Amino acid sequence: MLEFGPIILRALEKEDVKTLHKWNNDYIVTLYSRGSPFEFKNMLVMEEEIEKNLKDKKKTFLAIEIKKENRLIGTANYEEDRWGGILSSDLGTMLGEKDCWNKGYGKLVTLGLCELLFFWKNFDRLSAWSIEYNKRAHRVLEQIGFVREGIIRKCSFTSGKYWDWYAFGYLKGEYLSKREKILQKILKNYYPGYLKSIPEEMRSYT
Ligand SMILES: CC(C)(COP(=O)(O)OP(=O)(O)OC[C@H]1O[C@@H](n2cnc3c(N)ncnc32)[C@H](O)[C@@H]1OP(=O)(O)O)[C@@H](O)C(=O)NCCC(=O)NCCS
Repeated sequence: MLEFGPIILRALEKEDVKTLHKWNNDYIVTLYSRGSPFEFKNMLVMEEEIEKNLKDKKKTFLAIEIKKENRLIGTANYEEDRWGGILSSDLGTMLGEKDCWNKGYGKLVTLGLCELLFFWKNFDRLSAWSIEYNKRAHRVLEQIGFVREGIIRKCSFTSGKYWDWYAFGYLKGEYLSKREKILQKILKNYYPGYLKSIPEEMRSYT
């Protein structure tokens, strides 16, 4: 479990399936998260999906909670990929509770994942994909330091038209060079507490 400012990233459990079912049938959430709304996922399919995913040792599925309220608000996931001789991962982030959008949680989650995978684990590169109209997600990724690296043209269709997907990437060296500044900017008054939670001998790494 990673405590990161006001949020917690913990292992997603089979018992979370009811909430996932709700979010996967919310057309606004899936319009943004996948660019494909109205998939009508029934509970049986959701249960099979979650069981298969949670058993896959290369994939990690996390639940995002607001610590103070003990409230599950979303999920995040990553997957070990050793293609090209480096360790990399695509990131997935979804805040299923729409009343939590635009309150800074997306930036915290994205930064928490960078901290987890670049600082605590030895990932070399992270990628994220987002549909062209998901301006909120693009803003979050760019604020955390991801670079827009390319466009996959007209690879998705919804609401009467074709859409591009944007590919974002972040390298470990890029993150570590700005880590302190970005942690301070996003964690704000939680920054000293987060630093204190790290054993002293681990704090200096340069
Ligand atoms: C995308 C998502 C993770 C972002 O999380 P969030 O908590 O809403 O985002 P934050 O509040 O941290 O930041 C949102 C930023 O986008 C900006 N923003 C919001 N709507 C915007 C728009 N239409 N155009 C441009 N910027 C916008 C906000 O002003 C804020 O920027 P700021 O920090 O400079 O003020 C979350 O909304 C979500 O999960 N959405 C549904 C699923 C999804 O889209 N997943 C991502 C798939 S790549």
